[in-house]
Amino acid sequence: MDTAAASSGTGAVVARGRTVTGIEGLDNILNGGIPRGSMVLLAGAVGTGKTTLSLEYLIRGAESGERSLFLSVTEHTAKLVENLATFEFFRSELVESGALVLVDLPDIYTRLGLDREELSSEEIFLLTKAILDLVAETGVKRCVLDSLTSVVYRIHRDEQIRDFLLTLSRGLNRLGCTTLLTSELASGQARYSTHGVEEAIVDGVILLGNASRRGDILRVLQVVKMRGTSHSRAQYVMELTPIGLLMAPHLKGNSPEGT
Ligand SMILES: Nc1ncnc2c1ncn2[C@@H]1O[C@H](COP(=O)(O)OP(=O)(O)OP(=O)(O)O)[C@@H](O)[C@H]1O
Ligand SMILES: [Mg+2]
Repeated sequence: MDTAAASSGTGAVVARGRTVTGIEGLDNILNGGIPRGSMVLLAGAVGTGKTTLSLEYLIRGAESGERSLFLSVTEHTAKLVENLATFEFFRSELVESGALVLVDLPDIYTRLGLDREELSSEEIFLLTKAILDLVAETGVKRCVLDSLTSVVYRIHRDEQIRDFLLTLSRGLNRLGCTTLLTSELASGQARYSTHGVEEAIVDGVILLGNASRRGDILRVLQVVKMRGTSHSRAQYVMELTPIGLLMAPHLKGNSPEGT
């Protein structure tokens, strides 16, 4: 394990170990996992596997003793639990014991009284604090926000998004929590997020997409950036199976089909 002190993108300095995702193919691409305390954008078009990858990351963590938190915005967590049953490696005890914590972000909005479509700077601060308090209270070391897109939909100014992400990132880094933020891309979109400021702030970007091969559409994964580690930048074919995500090098001669 790499324990050298390293500076995160947000200026905080932490002893840098790795968060081994538990998704073997991804850990190999990242040479051992995500630098601990990083905030990573997981970007992709609809159905490319963002939620599936996020959930496997959390379940593998919970199984190995790292408490994990899923903050869901678009899908109700009760429905997610039903979908989790399709994974052979998922046990409902993980949720019952609190090793895997599932929270509906709209419940937090309601508790904080955030009912207007556009959030003010003060409301963004309240939301950030509520998330950081939840991470601190539960002691989780892995967190997923699914999706960042639906949160920033309510934050209209670039500088407010920047502040939101910087404050969240610094806080989560201080708590030693390694975080994935999903980002919904329109097909063919050139950037990795809604405003384009998000990818500059986060420590890493993992891109999920589609590629065609002899009439089939394959799911592909590519690590675009990951501060604090060397990594492959090659494109991998990603297969969603009941035993988890499997990655294989994407052979030449296949034409990419947008994101
Ligand atoms: N357990 C599973 N085994 C095999 N394939 C699955 C499994 N779960 C989901 N899928 C496939 O993955 C697709 C969606 O995956 P997922 O929900 O992770 O994508 P997403 O990128 O989060 O999509 P969205 O942008 O709609 O939220 C499904 O349409 C289905 O084809
Ligand atoms: Mg999803």
